[in-house]
Amino acid sequence: MPPRPAPSTPRPGPWLVGGEGIAYGGDYTPEQWPEEVWAQDVILMREAGVNLVSVGIFSWALLEPEEGRFEFGWLDRLLELLHANGIRVDLGTPTASPPAWFFHAYPEARVVSREGTVLGFGSRGMAGPSSPAYRAATVRITTALAQRYGRHPALALWHVHNEYGAPVSEDYSPASAAAFRRWLADRYGDLEHLNAAWGTTFWGQRYAQWEHVDVPAATPSVANPTQRLDFARFSDHALRECFVAERDAIRAHSDVPVTTNFMAGSCPATELWQWAREVDIVSNDHYLTASETRPEIGLALAADLTRSLAGGRPWILMEHSTSAVSWQPRNVAKQPGEMARNALSHLGRGADAILFFQWRASRSGAEKFHSAMLPHAGTGSRVWREVVALGRDLGALAELRGTQVRADVAILWDQESFWAQDLEWRPSVDLDHRERIDAFYTALWQAGHTVDFAHPEADLAAYRLVVVPASYLLSRAAGDNLTRFVAGGGTLLVSYFSGIVDETDAVHEGGYLAPLRRALGLTVEEFLPLREGGSVRVGGEHRSDAGDGSAPPMPELEGTVWSDDIALEGAAVVSTYLDGPAAGRPAITRHTHGLGTGWYVSTRLGVDDLMTLLDRVYRDAGLSARAGVAGLEVVVRHGVGVDYLVALNHGDAPVAVAVDGHELLSGRATDGTLKVPGGGVAVVRVTPGA
Ligand code: GLA
Repeated sequence: MPPRPAPSTPRPGPWLVGGEGIAYGGDYTPEQWPEEVWAQDVILMREAGVNLVSVGIFSWALLEPEEGRFEFGWLDRLLELLHANGIRVDLGTPTASPPAWFFHAYPEARVVSREGTVLGFGSRGMAGPSSPAYRAATVRITTALAQRYGRHPALALWHVHNEYGAPVSEDYSPASAAAFRRWLADRYGDLEHLNAAWGTTFWGQRYAQWEHVDVPAATPSVANPTQRLDFARFSDHALRECFVAERDAIRAHSDVPVTTNFMAGSCPATELWQWAREVDIVSNDHYLTASETRPEIGLALAADLTRSLAGGRPWILMEHSTSAVSWQPRNVAKQPGEMARNALSHLGRGADAILFFQWRASRSGAEKFHSAMLPHAGTGSRVWREVVALGRDLGALAELRGTQVRADVAILWDQESFWAQDLEWRPSVDLDHRERIDAFYTALWQAGHTVDFAHPEADLAAYRLVVVPASYLLSRAAGDNLTRFVAGGGTLLVSYFSGIVDETDAVHEGGYLAPLRRALGLTVEEFLPLREGGSVRVGGEHRSDAGDGSAPPMPELEGTVWSDDIALEGAAVVSTYLDGPAAGRPAITRHTHGLGTGWYVSTRLGVDDLMTLLDRVYRDAGLSARAGVAGLEVVVRHGVGVDYLVALNHGDAPVAVAVDGHELLSGRATDGTLKVPGGGVAVVRVTPGA
């Protein structure tokens, strides 16, 4: 296997103005409290080590109580108070929640759901992103804020809007339909191209006039899938136009960097590779889901995805929770120590700012049961004590600021594949792109690998192994990119139901998997999905190496959900179906292409079986699973001539890690062995070669 180039160090990007060390704080909503409470807040913020707060995110109705009349007095006083206390400000534009007067004046700006319901006022969620009145109003309030505070000495960052795509991502209003037609005209030029892309000869859907092209509102049977895919693209584009308009209004008056908080991995509406190009600093919100059995793995995935979106540069954890949230069916409180492990996992995976929703728990409103840094129980509480301890710990980690995380493995992440695959009438309801991403990620996490995510058309040269996790929509260009990666010496592992359709949701010419045919040495002749709850055995006495005897046959594994009828075109069989609809046919294959190797796995393996398969795949990639201790998460941040090993013990029993260095939280040398108590965290400065 030829040596692969070392991952390049990303160019440093802009960072918080005046930000040194690790930023710490949260959303701050002082407008919910009398002003005498503010003075108490800043005293407690200093006690907790808070140095950055996000303000004004939902304050439009207070800042512009009537159309065109602004009241900035309270925000002036707040920013002065924070500045006087050395607390920096991430200033929100309040456009995620327009005031009542706006909807009264412009009722046509209300969002219409797919079923035709007009959504009312009294919650939050922006107006229709394509509404001209909404866009004009957002630019006006944003310009007013930028003119007034753009050079304020407390200002570290601009926080545009809040979580684009939630709670509203698609709008089926007349304004949206008009904008959709304009977007389609730009994309296709004329109706002939639109008809061809949408395959409208099918079911007699051919359009002869632009006015007849509409948003894909509820239909009697399955709607045209390409129309829906394009509507998802358009809806994302419309949201991004709103962001860009606000960002540019800010930039006209302020040099301070601009962000908007993503929901990487949990917002289906936004194509974040494109969003990441528009922000100055990537920031992300992440919440644990009570139903996850290993929430630390989902958290790590979101953090790795965010770092990848940031191109490896430091990013901001804009929101997470100190304990329970308030919007799940059962809002489970965090266990003692869990908040610190969560925070340090984000930090270990590249976050240089650790913020919460929110500073002080709200007494009223929809989120009054949401945890906060300062809970209803006050400063006598466990949560407060842990918040203060975390502030102290982050203070001790200041030197990690700007250091980098490196990964040898990448998993493809492509929002278009999600959009296309999540439509109706796919070959099996059990197909699930996200499930495969999570399964591969979990297997890699358990083997101790730090993972990047990559767009299928991105430069993959820095990786040894790339995983294609049921990437249903895969363009020819992406197929060529992956094939070049293999030819150049990379190892590719491809799941079933990858490379099926192109950008228009049309089956690839040449059949299923055609874009990866050369890299994998096969095509798929027919899908053989399993019945509900069905399983198949795969195994056999085949070699899983290049014929050099380095790897024994694969043990017998169990597949569910899927099998394929594979037509081999040079690939070697690693495992055969022992039963089921594809009995006797290839199940797992390995193919040498150029200097690299392409693996194909045509059934759904559980995480343990995936780990067994990956052990073989690692040999080709020149990787190995780190013999880890169950429940111990280790990530490394690299500085110049120094590494920082972040160790998180998610188990109950203490664990020992062989490492020689200086543990920063305790201030002690490790003397060759680091002991991490059950549930504990440690960060060791290691000087390689010292
Ligand atoms: C989201 C929002 C916040 C708050 C939190 C609660 O992330 O951005 O305003 O509602 O959820 O978990």
